[in-house]
Amino acid sequence: MEFSFDVDALLPERITVLDQHLRPPARRPGTTTPARVDLQQQIMTIVDELGKASAKAQHLPAPITSASRMQSNRHVMYVLKDTSARPAGKGAVIGFLKVGYKKLFVLDDREAHNEVEPLCILDFYIHESLQRHGHGRELFHYMLQKERVEPHQLAIDRPSQKLLKFLNKHYNLETTVPQVRGFKG
Ligand code: ACO
Repeated sequence: MEFSFDVDALLPERITVLDQHLRPPARRPGTTTPARVDLQQQIMTIVDELGKASAKAQHLPAPITSASRMQSNRHVMYVLKDTSARPAGKGAVIGFLKVGYKKLFVLDDREAHNEVEPLCILDFYIHESLQRHGHGRELFHYMLQKERVEPHQLAIDRPSQKLLKFLNKHYNLETTVPQVRGFKG
């Protein structure tokens, strides 16, 4: 996913972690620094465009990820950029993973309600042209380390078929106890 501005300069690392402040990361020494407000606008554009692409890929009626939603929630977004060698360009974004803690009442297999507050996978998207190349796994692995959680401790908000297969393949996660109601990301 390409943008009119320089993604490589805006996101110096392969994976950028964004929270509700949507702070532009520190730039590499020697890189010219545009006004901070312009950089934040660029970050917001990336978040909005990723949210739209993810919604489209999942056939959702509207994006569940946007800059304004990020600013009003305590979610964390891991953004993966393309670092493959390419002729001097402006860089590209490959995808993202969004997580956040949610209070949930879950039904266990005896149909009892339990209140828990797990880390939830809220949104996850890798660009169509780059799916099944290991990028999703790279992002997921990075998130698990940063958040210090094990895959089986996560809650997943309405996983897609692709995500179910992904979790099964990489983390052997299989059994799910369907819940009465979903929750909003
Ligand atoms: N069909 C079936 N399984 C798939 C597909 C697909 N088109 N794409 C990925 N997978 C699963 C498979 O298990 C695959 O292994 P395989 O190729 O050996 O069958 C495995 O994922 C590949 O792993 P990665 O390459 O690391 O995953 P990828 O980079 O493709 O990222 C993701 C996975 C994020 C699910 C990606 O496929 C995607 O963006 N899909 C569309 C959007 C989506 O469904 N997002 C999840 C929404 S649900 C939620 O966020 C709570």
